[in-house]
Amino acid sequence: MSFVVAIDGPAAAGKGTISRAVAAHFGFEHLDTGLLYRAVGARVLAGGDPVECARGLSAADLEAENLRSAEVAQAASRVAALAGVRAALVDFQRGFARGAKGAVLDGRDIGTVICPGADVKLFVTASPEVRACRRFEEQKSAGSGDSYDRVLADVKARDARDMNRADAPLKPAADAITIDTSDLSVAQAVARAIGVIAARRGQRV
Ligand code: CDP
Ligand code: CDP
Repeated sequence: MSFVVAIDGPAAAGKGTISRAVAAHFGFEHLDTGLLYRAVGARVLAGGDPVECARGLSAADLEAENLRSAEVAQAASRVAALAGVRAALVDFQRGFARGAKGAVLDGRDIGTVICPGADVKLFVTASPEVRACRRFEEQKSAGSGDSYDRVLADVKARDARDMNRADAPLKPAADAITIDTSDLSVAQAVARAIGVIAARRGQRV
């Protein structure tokens, strides 16, 4: 039986950073489920039908170069509100979780919908201002000219869309442990996550 870690939370909270570190530490496989929605969003921006794109998604689509752009992030959160798109992506995510001895999946609904029986559920969050600051710095290094105010508005718009949609809204699972990374370094946030997972692994017989 696989050991599954579900990591959910809003944009730029540090989910991906923690997930990669946890996967490396415990030797688990990692799936960034946001990439699935980003890949659908990118194909829809190019003129595709959202549900058809989600059904036809292939591993190669997750390697596309533009998936990290702000435009694709907004498109991802729009297609992510469509029940047909979400339904088309469920089996792939659950198959991934089952298929590895240890798996970390990060996204918005992993602990609530995709893997409700996950061994560990973390809800990683931070204030919108801190998250916007992180994204602003990342985008600046990547050559984007968006202002901090613009990035903050984008983060808030995506939070609102993700939290208020009818299907699989962003929220902590009832049994999730919250890690607020607003005042934590990456090393501190990673250490906290590893501590929770190590304790839980020790308990499982
Ligand atoms: O996956 P998600 O969108 O939640 O966030 P990320 O891409 O892992 O992290 C966003 C940025 O915040 C990265 O540049 C991290 O280095 C930085 N960061 C962090 O992840 N955790 C902290 N405690 C502090 C900074
Ligand atoms: O990296 P960041 O946290 O900015 O975004 P992401 O994880 O790549 O997700 C992009 C968008 O996909 C989110 O704003 C959500 O609307 C959607 N998403 C979702 O609905 N469910 C997931 N499990 C993962 C992402």
